[in-house]
Amino acid sequence: MAPISSKTKSPFTKSDNLLFDPALIPASIQESLPAGYVVRPLARSDNQVRSNSSFLKTLEVLTTVGTISDDAFQRRFQYLKEHSDQYYTIVIEDMNVPPTSAGSATSSSPSLVTPGRGKIVAAGTVLAERKFIHELGMVGHIEDIAVSADQQGKKLGLRIIETLKAIGQQVGCYKVILDCSEKNVPFYEKCGFERKGVEMGWYV
Ligand code: ACO
Repeated sequence: MAPISSKTKSPFTKSDNLLFDPALIPASIQESLPAGYVVRPLARSDNQVRSNSSFLKTLEVLTTVGTISDDAFQRRFQYLKEHSDQYYTIVIEDMNVPPTSAGSATSSSPSLVTPGRGKIVAAGTVLAERKFIHELGMVGHIEDIAVSADQQGKKLGLRIIETLKAIGQQVGCYKVILDCSEKNVPFYEKCGFERKGVEMGWYV
């Protein structure tokens, strides 16, 4: 893979609330987002609905999500957190929403942003698979890319993919792959992917 900028300044700091260290997200991608949008790791609080938006609602553009209780969300988040060298789920949050009584979108430090004060508008995951082949190589699997219907066409999908590719590369994956429908092929080609092999499925 061609090298991706390793400049890693982020408006977020590593914390127990975030799934993984935000320093893995290149600053160059953060800077290319529309004003007031931030890209960050999934947070424990991202199941909370704000401005009719949440991480789970964002995923509904993909498929059925179902009813997930707060407890169930927290258990799944904790599992991912305990395997945070495998699961890298990111969101893009639009902070251009009016502040509530809970506080404003930014913390007292101008360079830091509080996750969950805005509106989640896009999400995606890269899963780092550990293999025996290629001398214990790692392969990144991109999964569950979603951009809210009213936010599509703003290059948010592209920024999600760029971020996941950069994370995959930084954690040591020798390739990053994904499955998609025919209609999304032109989008992934714009993101630098090419057709390889054939996807097969078996549904229980
Ligand atoms: N056909 C052709 N070109 C497309 C398409 C498409 N379906 N979608 C985007 N593009 C192009 C854009 O025109 C743009 O091109 P440009 O750079 O020349 O202007 C480029 O791809 C980047 O587009 P974005 O604005 O970043 O795309 P968007 O933010 O709308 O995200 C996405 C695309 C993720 C497919 C979004 O439409 C979406 O969430 N769709 C519903 C859910 C979905 O299908 N997710 C992907 C499932 S596959 C998986 O998860 C591995």
